[in-house]
Amino acid sequence: MGFWVLFVLNIIISSGDHGVFSCPQRCTCHFSSKSTEVVCPDASLSHFPNDSLPGNTTSLTIQYTNLDSITTHELRATPLLQELHLPGNRLSTLPADMLMGLPHLHTIDLTGNQLNDLPAQVFYHAPLLNLVLKDNLLTSANADWLPSNSNLTWLDLSGNRIMKAPFALLKNLGRLETLHLSQNLLEELPADSLHSLPALERLYLDNNKLQSLDAKAFSQNVNLTHLFLQKNKLESLPAMVFHGLDRLQYLDLSENRLRFLAPETLGLGISWVELNLNPWHCDAKMEYLWKWLNKQPVQSQPTCASPESLKDRAITTLTRKELGLAD
Ligand SMILES: *[C@@H]1O[C@H](CO)[C@@H](O)[C@H](O)[C@H]1NC(C)=O
Ligand SMILES: *[C@@H]1O[C@H](CO)[C@@H](O)[C@H](O)[C@H]1NC(C)=O
Ligand SMILES: *[C@@H]1O[C@H](CO)[C@@H](O)[C@H](O)[C@H]1NC(C)=O
Ligand SMILES: *[C@@H]1O[C@H](CO)[C@@H](O)[C@H](O)[C@H]1NC(C)=O
Repeated sequence: MGFWVLFVLNIIISSGDHGVFSCPQRCTCHFSSKSTEVVCPDASLSHFPNDSLPGNTTSLTIQYTNLDSITTHELRATPLLQELHLPGNRLSTLPADMLMGLPHLHTIDLTGNQLNDLPAQVFYHAPLLNLVLKDNLLTSANADWLPSNSNLTWLDLSGNRIMKAPFALLKNLGRLETLHLSQNLLEELPADSLHSLPALERLYLDNNKLQSLDAKAFSQNVNLTHLFLQKNKLESLPAMVFHGLDRLQYLDLSENRLRFLAPETLGLGISWVELNLNPWHCDAKMEYLWKWLNKQPVQSQPTCASPESLKDRAITTLTRKELGLAD
């Protein structure tokens, strides 16, 4: 019969070498039987914490420091690394083959650096699942950053300067479940941009410059549950654009330039649609949306922008007569 004794070590060490539990200067290390987490939050740090970094580090965070470069060689010192968090530093590029020597790395977060261009193969060699490049200076996202057998499920490219949907990169990401493209400069979304993403569940396209959507833009993303399109310049929507999205629960269309919705645009399965802050024109063409809104138990309350006589009235409160509909 098995007799198991479990030793759980749970020790926190700050700064300095303490025998087997070493920890770099200006960092905090947290040791347990399952993981070794190192956090370096000191603004005065300007190079990789290469002194006494525990060889079995599984999670390394260097945040809001003056770090402006990182090398493949430095990262090789921690071959068991699973997560690398580098938010708020001053990195402007990364070495090619950066992750060579990190066969367990599944998460890398580079939020808030100054990345403007990345070399080919930069995210090869590790079995990445989560890649965060939010709030950098990227103008494009290239297909050769990730291997063609990538299993990435989460990609965050929000807060960059991307003008074209990164079609070639997305083509290899058949397992992607969450895609953040918010706060970029996207003006259009060619019909097939997202067709390679059958597993996609959450898509963030808010805060761009989209003026229109192709009727087939989301036709292959049948697992979508959340779709964020707020703060764009959408003036109208093809009636078929959300058709087939049977799992869609949440749709945000607020702060666009929509004046009305064509009949049957919204599926009945959607439980929440944000429609506020659009210039809704409340006349007979509003019948479809008016009926749809009145069928939903809980709903945001979009208001009319015109005609003048109905300005600021909640659409759900209008009468048939006010909409100019026959009794
Ligand atoms: C890492 O090394 C320390 C010190 O030798 C040890 O206590 C800890 O259990 C090790 N952690 C892992 C995840 O191997
Ligand atoms: C750590 O990096 C610094 C700066 O690159 C270098 O001067 C120093 O020699 C390195 N220390 C070790 C132990 O490798
Ligand atoms: C993706 O997962 C498959 C197994 O499901 C594996 O064979 C392949 O190496 C993985 N790709 C990467 C880049 O790790
Ligand atoms: C869609 O979602 C279902 C339920 O979560 C899942 O079983 C299925 O594998 C997903 N489809 C794709 C292509 O990932």
